[in-house]
Amino acid sequence: MSLQGKVAVITGGNSGIGYASAKALKAKGAQVVITGRSAEKVKRAAAELGVVGIVADVSDVSAIEQLARQVKEQYGKVDVLFVNAGVYGPSPIGQITEEMLDHQMGINFRGAVFTIEKFLPILQEGASIINLSSVLADAGMPGGAVYAASKAALNSYTRTAAAELAPRKIRVNAINPGPVNTPIFAKTGLPEEALNDFAANMQERVPLKRFGQPEEIAHLVSFLASDEAAFITGGAYNIDGGVAILT
Ligand SMILES: NC(=O)c1ccc[n+]([C@@H]2O[C@H](COP(=O)([O-])OP(=O)(O)OC[C@H]3O[C@@H](n4cnc5c(N)ncnc54)[C@H](OP(=O)(O)O)[C@@H]3O)[C@@H](O)[C@H]2O)c1
Repeated sequence: MSLQGKVAVITGGNSGIGYASAKALKAKGAQVVITGRSAEKVKRAAAELGVVGIVADVSDVSAIEQLARQVKEQYGKVDVLFVNAGVYGPSPIGQITEEMLDHQMGINFRGAVFTIEKFLPILQEGASIINLSSVLADAGMPGGAVYAASKAALNSYTRTAAAELAPRKIRVNAINPGPVNTPIFAKTGLPEEALNDFAANMQERVPLKRFGQPEEIAHLVSFLASDEAAFITGGAYNIDGGVAILT
């Protein structure tokens, strides 16, 4: 129970990695708040997990402000901020639209920056911020230019935030997963055949020859969240079945 007494906020906790992490953090004793865009999904996930669910779209700064206010009123502090909400929208260069760029940067990067900005006043000394990035931040996978750039920006931001927040003993780290078995790919709107081809190709490229499971990422999240990781800040940790070796 290494997170006993800690309050953890997970953006985008109604599905995938955020959902598995909520379960893991709760199992280690944390009081957990999850967020998401859809009231129905957030309510259902919160009930399944036995945690608090609050609807907040991270692309809307006033919604993040309202979320931070609610958490402050209910708990008075935050010890673990898991900045996880994200979207993936592949598009080859030459077909990139303003809308898809603004959408992905608005959630994956701008949303992350303003989540941290608005929670900063209630982050405790010794708090842990974990930014969910991607191995693609350092790769060049065709079709992923905008997504990869949003995650590369997040990793760059993570380093500066770690340096600036160190005097408050707040640790800031990024996690770079490889392909993980979550609904994120189905949400791209790509036809099933294209999704199956993508999954088969991706799996073949991973040295361990499989996708990761959300629970495997959750183990790293709960370690970085805990005081066992008290000397770790400013890092970006691959958890990717080895795929980064080959990219
Ligand atoms: N799966 C992978 O292979 C993989 C690999 C590397 C990195 N990642 C990163 O891992 C993170 C979690 O993704 P996942 O794979 O677990 O996918 P997921 O199951 O689709 O989960 C994404 C979560 O983020 C939420 N979200 C999206 N946009 C939001 C917004 N504007 N405001 C609030 N919440 C929002 C989603 O809620 P809705 O249900 O409302 O959309 C959902 O709860 C993302 O940052 C993703 O980029 C994933």
